Amino acid sequence: MSVQDAFQLANRRWIPAVGLGTWRMTKSQVSTSVQYALESGYRHFDTASAFGTAHILGDTLARFDIPREPLFLSYKLWPTEYRRHHVRPAVEKMLQDLQVDYLDAVLLHFPVAFHTGAGGKLTIDRTHDIGETWSELETFVTEGRIRSLGVSNFSIADLNHLQSRGGKIAPVLNQVELHPFHPQWELLEYCRNHGIHMIAASPLGGTAGKALRNDPTINRIAQAHNKTVAQVLLSWAIKRGTSVVPRSTDPQRIASNMKGMSLTDGEVAEINDLEERAQFIDHSKVLGIAGL
Ligand SMILES: NC(=O)c1ccc[n+]([C@@H]2O[C@H](COP(=O)([O-])OP(=O)(O)OC[C@H]3O[C@@H](n4cnc5c(N)ncnc54)[C@H](OP(=O)(O)O)[C@@H]3O)[C@@H](O)[C@H]2O)c1
Repeated sequence: MSVQDAFQLANRRWIPAVGLGTWRMTKSQVSTSVQYALESGYRHFDTASAFGTAHILGDTLARFDIPREPLFLSYKLWPTEYRRHHVRPAVEKMLQDLQVDYLDAVLLHFPVAFHTGAGGKLTIDRTHDIGETWSELETFVTEGRIRSLGVSNFSIADLNHLQSRGGKIAPVLNQVELHPFHPQWELLEYCRNHGIHMIAASPLGGTAGKALRNDPTINRIAQAHNKTVAQVLLSWAIKRGTSVVPRSTDPQRIASNMKGMSLTDGEVAEINDLEERAQFIDHSKVLGIAGL
């Protein structure tokens, strides 16, 4: 396998295969990691309202004076911002924070809206129609200020529900946790058949993913090629047609995560056949929201 640099979306736009995830980074880590990433050739950066650091990403990109066109900036709208009157200011703020005229992709971070209650406690707001959020985002596409619309943490049922809300523009991206212990084959197949490109969140298993990174098969394949375990995981993900947004604050890891490697078909099959299952990001627990 040779490593693919970019994928074409159903709307003919392109997304780089590898981007830098910026979740759980401090502001100073975003600044230095984005700098290392730019120096290593990254042009795809994943941020969200919830990360609280998009302005640092914007400042760093501005400091490096990177031409806009090769950049791919993806932003996730937070579910407390799903009401029509919240969507516009949230997207405007992200454009301002990133210091750009348009966003390459805006994703709904979750399939349901959240309500902020007493003490900042989040609950699911079941009264909200996701179609309302979507149609507001569509106006930004019409205005040329968002290029692609997508979703995140959407199941097949969630995608079907969104489709039933009568939007004019179909989602072309779905970002969810994906790695060999949580491959989500059925969702991947569904997305493929519906023109939705998948982005693997937590492609290295995240902070809790030691078991994945210690997997004997993956380690054996890495050793056989004199590559890192992360390179095997990321190349496997790209080989099956997904983009990846690994997060690292370490300059050498940031650089090596960008360098692909060739896996044989046999090795890909071995990884596909791993039976261990684990989902490392428990959103209900992280956000303290029951039923998410
Ligand atoms: N849509 C969503 O709800 C959602 C959910 C989760 C994640 N995401 C996105 O996906 C991105 C990545 O997911 P993630 O942040 O959970 O974690 P991840 O990228 O799967 O893993 C990050 C962990 O792996 C380590 N690491 C990175 N490169 C490595 C390498 N070459 N060798 C060994 N260890 C390495 C990092 O430590 P060092 O920093 O020390 O290298 C860090 O502890 C996020 O930042 C975010 O942008 C989205």
